[in-house]
Amino acid sequence: MKRSASMMKCDREGRLLQRQLRAGLRLPPPRRCFASSYLPPHDSQKRSSSHRVIFSGIQPTGTPHIGNYLGALQPWKKLHDEADANTSLIFCIVDLHAITTQHDAAILRVRKREMLAALLAIGLDPSRCTLFYQSSVPAHSELQWILSCQASTGYLSRMTQWKTKLRGNSTSGPDPSMATDRLKHGLFSYPILQAADVLVHRATHVPVGEDQRQHLEFARECVTNFHAAYSGNIFPYPETLVSPARRIMSLRNSVQKMSKSAESAKSRIELTDDAKTVRERIAAALTDDRGGVTWEPEARPGVTNLLEILAAFCGAPEVSARELAEGEMKGVSMRELKERVAEKVSEGLGGIQERYREVRKRGDGYLDEVAEEGRIKAARSAEETMRLVKEAVGLGL
Ligand code: AMP
Ligand code: TRP
Repeated sequence: MKRSASMMKCDREGRLLQRQLRAGLRLPPPRRCFASSYLPPHDSQKRSSSHRVIFSGIQPTGTPHIGNYLGALQPWKKLHDEADANTSLIFCIVDLHAITTQHDAAILRVRKREMLAALLAIGLDPSRCTLFYQSSVPAHSELQWILSCQASTGYLSRMTQWKTKLRGNSTSGPDPSMATDRLKHGLFSYPILQAADVLVHRATHVPVGEDQRQHLEFARECVTNFHAAYSGNIFPYPETLVSPARRIMSLRNSVQKMSKSAESAKSRIELTDDAKTVRERIAAALTDDRGGVTWEPEARPGVTNLLEILAAFCGAPEVSARELAEGEMKGVSMRELKERVAEKVSEGLGGIQERYREVRKRGDGYLDEVAEEGRIKAARSAEETMRLVKEAVGLGL
């Protein structure tokens, strides 16, 4: 496939950011737009140019799996532990995004709390960061509407996620004539709500898995559109921070990413799976009929995926999947590789599971208190942005 200059630029930026992530998160200063006379002086005093806002979100659509963990949650925790005190950290459980596909109301309610418990279990401390439910801060949807007035349907129609979701488990693309009937507006405009999530907190950095790159490019497009339509310099251009474990693949089909919604539970390992389940899932992971570990990402995607998982769970000292394949794991049998992966994954998940049980033991009341504290902090963060936005658009009197 021919790669465009912008894709290559993206990859270069991605590699740079990954190095920064690895090198203890010495993040670049946030990229601001042109200096503007619009911003009232007190605002620029409030938000010094070195102030960084890290924002990310996860859908409460099931127990997070090791793809979510390696692609997003582990980098969130690293940022949480290493970012300086002048950096705000905001993590959102995006329940409004979760209703863009068919769902059950009672199950959603349960999953929201489960996700909050999982975020606490990975070690996010609600006194250091903001943890909240998206729907509890109406400014997210309010900004979405305002941004939608400048969002191009042409751009949205070229985005991949709604096509993938509409296709479901079928391997052929959506039938174009059926697609528009089945395509609901909420799913189509999903990226606008995601842009609003980020921009309402004037986030400077967004740590996500590889699959979210396109959505964040769209968020930057929303910044350009907004600033072109209304004078002002309200939003920084949010930078995408892609985790070194860019994309963990399904254990049953190594061309599909590991997903919470895949029908087969055997395709994933969830953060709450016990050691026995982890061993069984890894033992049953599809690889190929060649024996012995080699580094051939194109020809051996299943083996490569296991090596990626192993590298990510190896922790310090950091090694890449390729280094493992060409060093320590060179030529070892598939059985040994799988045993090693299962052992490291169980080791890595052990502490999280223990904390998850502790958090759940504290009951729903505790989780609801954490969410309420988060709501208050998130609403405060969004309030100032909305004041500036409404003033720029002409909504504020
Ligand atoms: P979601 O489960 O779709 O809400 O995703 C939450 C976060 O996990 C996002 O930052 C995704 O990019 C990331 N993520 C989801 N699936 C994977 C995967 N298979 N590999 C790496 N990152 C992932
Ligand atoms: N779309 C993201 C996903 O599916 C979740 C998400 C919603 C998000 N809003 C966000 C991620 C804002 C980062 C920033 O994983």
